[in-house]
Amino acid sequence: MDKKPEPGPLFFLSFMLTLASLTKKPLLPMPASPIFDLFDLKDRVYLVTGATGALAGSAADYLAAQGARVVYLGRSAEKLDAALVRCRAAAPDAQVFAAVADVLDREALERARDAILAKWGRIDGLLNGAGGNMPGATITPDKSFADLDFEAFSQVIDLNLHGTVLPTLVFLPAMIAAKRGAIVNFSSAASAQALTRVVGYSAAKAAVDNFTRWLAVDAARRTGGAVRVNAVLPGFFLGDQNRRLLLNEDGTLTDRGRTIQQKTPFGRFGSKEELHGAIHYLLADASRFVTGTVLAVDGGFGAFSGV
Ligand SMILES: NC(=O)c1ccc[n+]([C@@H]2O[C@H](COP(=O)([O-])OP(=O)(O)OC[C@H]3O[C@@H](n4cnc5c(N)ncnc54)[C@H](OP(=O)(O)O)[C@@H]3O)[C@@H](O)[C@H]2O)c1
Repeated sequence: MDKKPEPGPLFFLSFMLTLASLTKKPLLPMPASPIFDLFDLKDRVYLVTGATGALAGSAADYLAAQGARVVYLGRSAEKLDAALVRCRAAAPDAQVFAAVADVLDREALERARDAILAKWGRIDGLLNGAGGNMPGATITPDKSFADLDFEAFSQVIDLNLHGTVLPTLVFLPAMIAAKRGAIVNFSSAASAQALTRVVGYSAAKAAVDNFTRWLAVDAARRTGGAVRVNAVLPGFFLGDQNRRLLLNEDGTLTDRGRTIQQKTPFGRFGSKEELHGAIHYLLADASRFVTGTVLAVDGGFGAFSGV
């Protein structure tokens, strides 16, 4: 008896085409939108320290506008209220709440953690934005290193290094337990290159870079890569902290501001919105094989020798 021929690939293809035209569905199951999924932050729970400040505050607003659930952490209840009003004015449906804590106060951070876990049940990421320089920890032009105010030096190390390590210590265990999470620290152009005058802040941010790499390795080994640790390195962004250093009262550049712009191939300071993309990338699945990096967002400052 003749054997009936097996349906070949052409038969299969024509069957699928007919089915697709009848049901108006794609031939094979396709991911809804791969690019969108890679960057999807909807309903993820992110905690932002320094959320009453310029850069981290702007990042917190951006994350909330992307549909993430954002905890604004700061030490001033009044400033936090103002930040939430600003956020909701731009994104009325934003899922946000405020937690009052100094980043150097472990008990206050633990209370914040308990409140977040009670409200949203998980923590998907931490943006360690609190930080900054302090006038006493810099060497003014009329002084030398011998005049360094060691107390101020210690305070700037406390805020930038300990103020990154302590929130991480408090919030990371929830991410390790859930085997899911991304931490983004804030580095600085001062971390890798010597900036005249800026002695304490530079040492602190160099330590943040090192801590970022150390913890990235440790967290990866503990979770098989499910918890990642990276940093953004903002170049020079105009903010309340550095305005007087970079601009004269009439808005023209100070000598230092001009020197910085000359060493920045883009020839300008950054604007806070220009950090959003890097932060989004490092928090989202788009960077799921990326850990231990310090991502410069600096208009080329770090790449340029100045010559
Ligand atoms: N702006 C730049 O050009 C630049 C460049 C490189 C790196 N960075 C880094 O980017 C981050 C944000 O800087 P920024 O320019 O946005 O500065 P900012 O506007 O001065 O914000 C600093 C934030 O840190 C908070 N903070 C300070 N001490 C704290 C403490 N003990 N506990 C809790 N919060 C505390 C401040 O809270 P309060 O409002 O209560 O003071 C404020 O929300 C910092 O880590 C900074 O070092 C900035």
